[in-house]
Amino acid sequence: MKATITLLPGDGIGPEVGAEAEKLLLAVARQFGHEFTLQTGLIGGAAIDATGNPLPEETITLCKQSDAVFLGAVGGPKWSDPNAPVRPEQGLLKLRAELGVFANLRPVAPHPATAELAPLKPHLLHGIDMLFVRELTGGSYFGAKRREADAAVDECRYTVAEIERVTRRAAQLARGRRRKLTHVDKANVLETSRLWRSTVTRIMDSEYPDVAYEHVLVDAMAMHLLTRPSHFDVVLTENLFGDILTDEAAVLAGSMGLLPSASVGEGKVGLYEPIHGSAPDIAGKGIANPYASLLSVALLLRHSLGLEAEAAALEQAVSSAISDGVLTADLRKDHPASTAEAGNAVLQRLSALAKAA
Ligand code: NAD
Ligand code: IPM
Ligand code: MN
Repeated sequence: MKATITLLPGDGIGPEVGAEAEKLLLAVARQFGHEFTLQTGLIGGAAIDATGNPLPEETITLCKQSDAVFLGAVGGPKWSDPNAPVRPEQGLLKLRAELGVFANLRPVAPHPATAELAPLKPHLLHGIDMLFVRELTGGSYFGAKRREADAAVDECRYTVAEIERVTRRAAQLARGRRRKLTHVDKANVLETSRLWRSTVTRIMDSEYPDVAYEHVLVDAMAMHLLTRPSHFDVVLTENLFGDILTDEAAVLAGSMGLLPSASVGEGKVGLYEPIHGSAPDIAGKGIANPYASLLSVALLLRHSLGLEAEAAALEQAVSSAISDGVLTADLRKDHPASTAEAGNAVLQRLSALAKAA
């Protein structure tokens, strides 16, 4: 097939893990007989430095003209002054809004080999297979913001339509899995959460009677994630709660460098990014874990290009590299692999799988 993919490397380790994603896309095209046109755009701090704008118009145009977008990461100390007039993260939020990608899918299915390396007791990590569906274009991220003389306000607003569409997406995904949905909110305190709770209940009862569901308060969920993570299947939640809970879930996987994400909506262009940030503490050293990015490429192949066999082969290649102990410094202290070595290990395994297919 023919596809155009926009790469947005961004800041910090973004370009380092993005380079491995690019190598892999080219290898998938070569080995499976596809024609991928790759184009690169500016976003985040790099775009502020070059143009003053964290999401230049040219980048929006490139993204909208493509089939899918891969993003590395944005942000870093250089642009983090709380009084700065523009911020790298604004570029990413604007891109999500421009593409209309309201559902952020963040799968968490730890590899057995990394369970030994995670800080939690290995028996708690057995059988975890979760899919977070984080609402991505609403809530306090996008509500009105303002400064007052001695105060600041971030408005948290959700419409019924915004809740309905992401609930339907989560319920449909649950139908392809274990048919269990956990909706996470703070309905004992927040008005928006009460709207979420009644809307989720109505949609699930009337349209998805075959999917079991429960409501869990977010503070309790933060605990359940660590004490009984294998209980959960699809976890649906609003933007900010989903941001926080998925970094917590990265602990179950063993590292921030392992969790991928896919952001999708009704439009044709999907956005794929690791859930981690620009990791300023390790940037420039060539030691970042590229697997979250490579697994995000697998999600891109599956959700935007419909290449299920290629996506599954890539996931198998990453899994086999992990089984063989090809791990970066976040997961092994003795003889860690570099970012490029880990990327190359996946390339080699993918090539063997493609030949066998
Ligand atoms: P972070 O995710 O960048 O890093 C948190 C910790 O995880 C650090 O110790 C880092 O070294 C480690 N880590 C993250 N990714 C890793 C990888 N691939 N391999 C090995 N270790 C990894 O979070 P932070 O430090 O709180 O944020 C840094 C900057 O990144 C901020 O400006 C933030 O806004 C931005 N950020 C961007 C995105 C994004 O672009 N999608 C996501 C999260 C944070
Ligand atoms: C993420 C990041 C972003 C978010 C930031 C960088 C805007 O933390 O993708 O998880 O909060 O959504
Ligand atoms: Mn985050």
